[in-house]
Amino acid sequence: MEGEKGEVCITGGTGFVASWLIMRLLEHGYSVNTIIRPDPDHKRDVSFLTSLPGASEKLRIFEADLSDPESFGEAVKGCIGVFHVATPVDFENREPVELHACLKSKTVKRVVYTSSASAVAFNDKDVDVMDETYWTDVEYVRAKMTFGASYFISKTMTEKKALEFAEEHKLDLVTLIPTFVIGPFICPKLPGSVHTSLAMLFGEKEQYGSLLSMSMVHVDDVARAHIFLFELPEARGRYNCSSHTVTIQELAKFLSAKYPEFPMPTIESLKDIKGFKAAELSSEKLLKSGFSYKYRLHEMVDEAIQCCKENGYLFLFFLLQRKDNKKITNDGGTQPRLNLGKAAPGRLPEAREE
Ligand SMILES: NC(=O)c1ccc[n+]([C@@H]2O[C@H](COP(=O)([O-])OP(=O)(O)OC[C@H]3O[C@@H](n4cnc5c(N)ncnc54)[C@H](OP(=O)(O)O)[C@@H]3O)[C@@H](O)[C@H]2O)c1
Repeated sequence: MEGEKGEVCITGGTGFVASWLIMRLLEHGYSVNTIIRPDPDHKRDVSFLTSLPGASEKLRIFEADLSDPESFGEAVKGCIGVFHVATPVDFENREPVELHACLKSKTVKRVVYTSSASAVAFNDKDVDVMDETYWTDVEYVRAKMTFGASYFISKTMTEKKALEFAEEHKLDLVTLIPTFVIGPFICPKLPGSVHTSLAMLFGEKEQYGSLLSMSMVHVDDVARAHIFLFELPEARGRYNCSSHTVTIQELAKFLSAKYPEFPMPTIESLKDIKGFKAAELSSEKLLKSGFSYKYRLHEMVDEAIQCCKENGYLFLFFLLQRKDNKKITNDGGTQPRLNLGKAAPGRLPEAREE
């Protein structure tokens, strides 16, 4: 672990990205205050956070809803930085109260706000690659999209609001814009983006539309990019963060070659999949600032699959298929639903289904 770097606050500590970022911040020598949603019945198990190396001395967990400026202020007090990772889906164009607390603290030097490719890519611009000058067009989303629309609109509006607020109040705030985040996870829930990226292994056919042209980035690269931007004095504005783009056919070929034990849709059957073919996001601004991606495509996918296996998710799916004695088809249409509750740890059997 590196030496003492100061105290930072991070929202959404129970989530996929934030929990991984907490782990890396502790390793980098930061003391971390994290905000999680109130849990009056104390039913939530946060041992995946409290057992992290260095956590007993350097991690403090605060319970607060992001809409409550008072409790948020307590966690930010004395911090030199805030990583605003949590994502309350907020339809109202409200003031970002959590940024008021950053201003009020007088100690916060920079806020890194986690946005999303969904605040960039959904518009009528017919281009293959988009940089940070592109914005999702909220009216376009309202008119043309149903699946995910509320999330796309919320991410777009909240990123805009955060940047406007920062400009108006001279708050140093940068936004990081990841595409699909995949890779391993330490949080107890199966992350939605890992689930969607591996939809062909899970047999979740209705999610294939999101994979037509899929841009992605490893969770550890996302955590590294957050810390990189926090520590880069000249960082300004928005930063796309996306390392690889693959088509659904390329992903299917990769997965069937590497994981033949899973039933996969045929390449032919994927031709008819409909969905929004999003443009690639250019990371040129981030790379020119000195950042480099560490992980290759197969590492993102392999590590995500390994983690799903270790946590019982893919094992459970495999067992369900065997129990139902279903013939495993290649079109992915007849496979049983996956129960996404946490399953007992287990490993995928080597045996192949006939
Ligand atoms: N994963 C991706 O592919 C991806 C891609 C681009 C951008 N992002 C962005 O990255 C960030 C993290 O995403 P993720 O995948 O890690 O999501 P996640 O696993 O669902 O985590 C979201 C976190 O936000 C917390 N949260 C939501 N509403 C809250 C509220 N009102 N008050 C306090 N906390 C609240 C959740 O708390 P609970 O656990 O209590 O629900 C959870 O800890 C988000 O801003 C997301 O938009 C993610």
